[in-house]
Amino acid sequence: LRLNRRQFLASAASFATLPVGASLASSDPIDLNAQVADLQLLPNGYGKTSIWGFEGMTPGPEIRLGQGQRVQRRLVNALPDPTSVHWHGIRIDNAMDGVSGLTQAAVPRGETFDYDFIAPDAGTYWYHAHNRSFEQVARGLAGALIVEEADTIDVDREEVLILDDWLLDPDTAQIVSDFAAPHARSHGGRIGNFVTTNGIYNLALNARQNERMRLRIINASNARVFPLRLDGLEGWTVALDGMPLLKPEPVTETIILGPAQRIDLIVDVVASEGEAAHVVHLGQSDAASQVAFEVSSGGAATRRGAPAPLPPNAHQMVDLSKAKAMPLKMEGGAMGGLRSATLDGETKSMAEIVEAGRYWAFNGAADGRDGPAFTKLSQGEHVHLTIANDTAFPHAMHLHGMHFHEVNADGSLGPLRDTTLIERGNSRDIAFVADNPGKWLLHCHMLSHAASGMSTWIDVA
Ligand code: C2O
Ligand code: CU
Repeated sequence: LRLNRRQFLASAASFATLPVGASLASSDPIDLNAQVADLQLLPNGYGKTSIWGFEGMTPGPEIRLGQGQRVQRRLVNALPDPTSVHWHGIRIDNAMDGVSGLTQAAVPRGETFDYDFIAPDAGTYWYHAHNRSFEQVARGLAGALIVEEADTIDVDREEVLILDDWLLDPDTAQIVSDFAAPHARSHGGRIGNFVTTNGIYNLALNARQNERMRLRIINASNARVFPLRLDGLEGWTVALDGMPLLKPEPVTETIILGPAQRIDLIVDVVASEGEAAHVVHLGQSDAASQVAFEVSSGGAATRRGAPAPLPPNAHQMVDLSKAKAMPLKMEGGAMGGLRSATLDGETKSMAEIVEAGRYWAFNGAADGRDGPAFTKLSQGEHVHLTIANDTAFPHAMHLHGMHFHEVNADGSLGPLRDTTLIERGNSRDIAFVADNPGKWLLHCHMLSHAASGMSTWIDVA
């Protein structure tokens, strides 16, 4: 399934955004081993946890490259189960999107698959397993994918902070293995009892007074929505899901980061020497964990002014006046009141739907990604989707292969994203240009939900 050079260049040419001097040279792919490993996840004194990780690590190794450069990785599957890798948020060639059962076959144990693609946009992305994600991501198969801007960004340093949430048995330190638990599927997803940052509980780092840092925060959890507060740090949001904001926005309130979402902050250390600055995870007690920066002297004497916006990525503007308008109604789940839905074209009672492992429906259909395409679009078509969350839980809707705008209440275009969090009873309008041909998943990133009906796909041809 490896692309030959001609196919590869043809797909790369569809992105009009390659900077001059982009590295298209082919080299041998670097191995990315998916394997089982025993790691000290819990604090010392507890046992080790058997995880599934890329290169035996969780998070997996950071993949970092310049905008427009090429990623070549050979997935080597040493796991007991078949797997594949999805490059979340990258506007990618469809054949490289890594969705088992839609864009490729899952790679069996002992076999390999070569991923080879260009990253056209700078930003904070991530990669994760995309076969039985509700289990494989919960076991640890995720890592950061960082695409650097060509320009240097005026910060002293940066930190990538990957938040994850584990459901562990405190006696054995092992991952609780009822991944398909009906409760998680029908309620808020698989919520853990232990939070890590970069695989570490209560991550501690050093910082200097007035130091300016770029924080790239990634929510790699299955279902946890992280409310975050800055303490001893002051700054601005400069990008959401990797996509730069037109204007940096001062962080004044709690940051809400849904599953799969990312936020880039530029922060200054305002805590004094000898104190600590924190990124605090709110909303947990027993699972409380935070990132602490121990502040020492030796930094700048004063703070700098507001940062400049990050350079924008090239993007085809969506025109709402000519966009095809479509509703996507999300229903079902516990306390959702869904009485029936279609499955394989037949109307079924909720009991029959549940019997088939489904709890949710999109526009009355519970087929999930096994069903027909949600819509067939011609390449270049403009789309306006109104996603109504008629359930009792929040959902984080993710579109593969293309970035979308959130549409503001006044009808103007809001930030570009790839994952949008929609609270219960709310609705969100998104709009995009279907400029990337292929079969693209559209699903809730609460991974237990995605596995039980909250998944569909869009066909762009
Ligand atoms: Cu990050 Cu279909 O997923
Ligand atoms: Cu959901």
